Amino acid sequence: MKKQTFVGLAAALILVSYVGISVASDAGNARKGRFLFRQNCRPCHMENATGAKPAHYLGPDAKTQAEWKAVFEKYSTLPCKDEWAKIPDADRQDIFRYVHDGAKDSPTPAKCG
Ligand code: HEC
Repeated sequence: MKKQTFVGLAAALILVSYVGISVASDAGNARKGRFLFRQNCRPCHMENATGAKPAHYLGPDAKTQAEWKAVFEKYSTLPCKDEWAKIPDADRQDIFRYVHDGAKDSPTPAKCG
C-alpha cells in the first residue's frame, strides 16, 4: 500500500470514530425532554409557583451547560431529590438534553414557557 493511501485511510478512520463519539454523547431527545421538564419540574420551578413546595424559577437558560451537567451528575444532593428519584433514567437523559441545549451559554438559550 502506498504511504499516502495509508495516511488517508488512517485519517478517515480517526474521523469516523470521532463522529461516532460525538453522536453518542448527544444522547437524549430534547423535544421529549421539554415535555418532561414541563411535567416534572415546572409545577414547582415556574415563576410565581404556588404548589405544595414552590421553588425559584428554573428553565434551561437559568444555568450554563457546565452547571446543568453538575446538577444532573449530583441530583441526589438536591432538596428535590425525591422528585428526581421518581423519574426513569431515560427520561432524565431527555430532560438533560433539553436544558443543556437551551442553557444560557448555548447557541440557543431557552426560557421554559
Ligand atoms: C415538589 C416540588 C419540586 C419538583 C417537582 C422539582 N423541584 Fe427542584 N427544587 C424544589 C425545591 C423546594 C428546591 C429548593 C428551593 C429552591 O432552590 O428554590 C429545589 C431545588 C432545585 C435545584 C437547586 C437550586 C438550583 O437552582 O441550582 C435544582 C437544580 C432543581 N431543583 C432542579 C429541578 C429539576 C430539573 C426538576 C425536574 C426534574 C425539579 N427540580 C423538580 C422543588 C421541586
